Amino acid sequence: MPVALVTGASTGIGRATALEFARQGWDVALADLPGVSVAEVANHPDAAGRRMLPVELDLNLEASIAASITSAVAGLGGVDALINNAGTTGRGAATEITWADWDRLMNVNLKGHYFMSTAFARWCIGAGRQGAIVSTASTHGLTGIAQQSLYGISKGGIVQMTRMLAVEWARDGIRVNAVAPATVLTPSRDKALADPARRQMMLDRLPQGRFPTAEDIADAMVFLAGPKAKAITGHILPVDAGLLAV
Ligand SMILES: NC(=O)c1ccc[n+]([C@@H]2O[C@H](COP(=O)([O-])OP(=O)(O)OC[C@H]3O[C@@H](n4cnc5c(N)ncnc54)[C@H](O)[C@@H]3O)[C@@H](O)[C@H]2O)c1
Repeated sequence: MPVALVTGASTGIGRATALEFARQGWDVALADLPGVSVAEVANHPDAAGRRMLPVELDLNLEASIAASITSAVAGLGGVDALINNAGTTGRGAATEITWADWDRLMNVNLKGHYFMSTAFARWCIGAGRQGAIVSTASTHGLTGIAQQSLYGISKGGIVQMTRMLAVEWARDGIRVNAVAPATVLTPSRDKALADPARRQMMLDRLPQGRFPTAEDIADAMVFLAGPKAKAITGHILPVDAGLLAV
């Protein structure tokens, strides 16, 4: 069975993606912060019969990144697809963002994913295995929006990381793509958009008049990770209810 390693697998888009991989017959390494339980996902009825392996990962720590790949390989016999999904947010006026805010967010959203990707590629190349990386960018990494500069710049970095690594590893058989969701009402975003006026403003930007769901994003992730996307590398797939078409 193919194996996917999904980061930030306990909730939201990561949870939905891990479950969709399981439904499609993949075994899944469920990576999340130490102390964050992935038991609900591992024991979900849709994952019955699949191997669902909890793996500890803190993207702030180089050693934790290396250990997460080692654990997944040891527990599941290898990794075919890395899903760089974990992330953190940081809304606020650009003039108020501090040096410490920058480091906190960039360390997880950009540096962590870069070194997660290189650790995975190093393993693939060493083992003589092909692989696929799918990262979670964002429409905020492709368009301007006020109060989201720090987050948007981190996601813009993911967009360019995707192109750079796709070209560098194309002949190694490692494909690198990203999904760019518009707002998805995951538990964290549901809370962040508690103000009805702000939620409506985000909704009004979307031509389809609906927020994409975590399952919509998961479908795109699994497609890009799988064999039907074998000729696709270096691309960003917006799952955005039409936002970027405007
Ligand atoms: N929900 C949206 O509206 C939306 C839109 C565009 C992009 N995205 C991106 O999609 C991804 C998932 O979004 P979500 O709303 O489901 O996320 P979320 O904020 O609800 O969950 C993030 C996950 O990442 C994990 N995480 C945080 N810091 C970590 C660290 N240092 N090491 C390892 N894991 C860590 C958390 O424990 C959690 O499981 C994120 O990268 C997010 O930026 C989300």
